[in-house]
This record gives sequence, C-alpha cells and structure tokens, in this order.
Amino acid sequence: MNAKVFFTILATALLNILAAVLIPSTVIRAIAVAVISAAGIALLVIFLEKPIYDMKMQMRQVQQENDELERMRSEFVGNVTHELKTPLTSISGFVETLQSGAADDPDIRTKFLDIISIETERLKRLIDDVLVLSNIEAESEVIVEKIDVGSCIDTVMEMMTPIADGKGVKLVNEVEGGLTAKGDPDRFRQMFMNLVENAIKYSDEGGRVWITGYMNGDHLQMAVSDEGIGIAPENIDRIFIRFFRVDKSRSNKVGGTGLGLSIVKHIASLFGATISVDSKLGKGSTFYITFPE
Ligand SMILES: Nc1ncnc2c1ncn2[C@@H]1O[C@H](COP(=O)(O)OP(=O)(O)OP(=O)(O)O)[C@@H](O)[C@H]1O
Ligand SMILES: [Mg+2]
Repeated sequence: MNAKVFFTILATALLNILAAVLIPSTVIRAIAVAVISAAGIALLVIFLEKPIYDMKMQMRQVQQENDELERMRSEFVGNVTHELKTPLTSISGFVETLQSGAADDPDIRTKFLDIISIETERLKRLIDDVLVLSNIEAESEVIVEKIDVGSCIDTVMEMMTPIADGKGVKLVNEVEGGLTAKGDPDRFRQMFMNLVENAIKYSDEGGRVWITGYMNGDHLQMAVSDEGIGIAPENIDRIFIRFFRVDKSRSNKVGGTGLGLSIVKHIASLFGATISVDSKLGKGSTFYITFPE
C-alpha cells in the first residue's frame, strides 16, 4: 500500500478515537468525527486519484503504440503488395503478348523473354529481402559471438568482387588486422554486403569503393565509401525508410527493392551501433557504422 494512503487511514482512525474519547458532548463529538472522516476521505481520493490517472495515461500510451505498430504493419503489407504487383503485371503482360503471336518473331521473343527474366529476378530479390527483414524482426534469440572483422570483410570482398568487376568498379579493403566485434557474424556480413552492393550499384564505371575499419579509442569504426552519384541532403534521412529509392527507375534498372538500407539499419541497431552518412551529389557517399565499446 502507498505510504501516504496508509498514514492517512491511520491518522483518520487515531483522530476519530481521540475525538470519541476526549469530546464529552455527543453532538460536537459527532460533528468532529464527521469532519475528520470527511477530511481523511478527501485526502485518500487525492492520493489515489494520481496513480489511477497515471495508469490511465500509461494504458493510453500503450494503445497509441499498438495503433502505430498496426498502422506500420498494414502500410508495410500494402507496400509489399504494390511492389509485388508491378513486376507480376509486367510479366503477365509480356507472357500474354507472346502467347498472342509475338513469339513467332525471334527478335521480339528474345527481348520479351529477357524482360520476363529481369522482372522474375526482381520478384525473387524482393521476396528474399522481405524474408530477411521479417527474420531479423522476429529473431527472439540473438546470437552473440566474437566476430573476426577481417575474415568477415574478406568474405564480403570475395562475394562482391564479381559484381564490382562486372561494373568496372574497384574494391579496396582497408580494414586493419586483428579487429573484433560482438554479435551475429552472418548479420555483420549481411550489413556490409548491402552497403558495398549499394556503393557498387550507385557508382559509375571506373569508380572505387573502400571498406575501412579501425579502432577509434574504444569504438570499432567501420565505413563504406564510394565515388558514385551521391545523395542530396534532403534525401539522406529518407534512404533508410523501407521501399524508399531516390530514383525509382534507376534503382529498378539495377535491381533495387529499397529494402537494403532498412535491413542495414535494423542490423546496426541489433549491434547497438549507429549509422551516419556523409554524401555529396555527384562526388560520392560514405556510410559510417560506429560500434559500441
Ligand atoms: N552508396 C549510395 N550512393 C548513392 N545513393 C545511394 C547509396 N546507397 C543507397 N542509395 C540510395 O538510397 C536508396 C535506398 O537504398 P536501399 O539499399 O535501401 O535500396 P536499393 O539499393 O534501391 O534496393 P535494395 O533493397 O535492392 O538494396 C537507393 O535506392 C538509392 O537511391
Ligand atoms: Mg541497396
């Protein structure tokens, strides 16, 4: 029981006993007891009102948070459905055209089949990204291991080199030896794959992409930099929003779903790390990941 409530009840009872013992006149005693009891009840109402009010406010806040989560969930489902519909509509359109005679012309057939193949690949990427995102969100058991940063980045380099070569972009590994982090190594690799993939995707032929890693005091500091198209200041905060793409048509051409950086942000938060971006339009971008001590 709340101490204030306890002492109010105790004081009211004691005062009533004193009044009953000390006041001889029946009428005055009755008035005194009534006044003391009324004052006690009034105090109790005041003391109990506050916790009830606080509880009501808390319940309202939880309700608002639930409403917000529900709104975000249905917005996400709406976005995914829309993103799935676009390539599916295109695929079914081209299949229909092929079926209604266009397949007889070998040039048109090859062209349409190429488009169908690109759109199918986009659908696959989208589904993969949505699954990764929902797996990260649903993960109840978080893996915490000592991560060998150098070997994780070597794997990222290995997997990304063919993509970089295909685009004529040079990958440079400037991660210092002996660095470690704490967390899930698969997620760590995933985060840098997404960042390096973006750096390559949004660079032109002949560009360079650097992965750097070093200790800044007690903090592991990692960064992925490129000399690509850059991001305008007004878009910097928005690039982490699910499905946001600065230039939807360019991103679509390079197979973008707009989920890569949402995944990066989510993984960074699992590591307790913060992300910041430094970018200049036409000059390039650097994504910094600062890990906790
Ligand atoms: N290094 C970069 N340079 C320039 N723009 C970038 C860079 N990284 C991200 N962006 C911009 O931010 C947007 C969001 O990036 P994000 O990785 O989330 O999506 P995406 O690359 O379009 O698709 P994907 O989900 O396949 O990664 C991109 O569409 C692009 O416009
Ligand atoms: Mg991306």
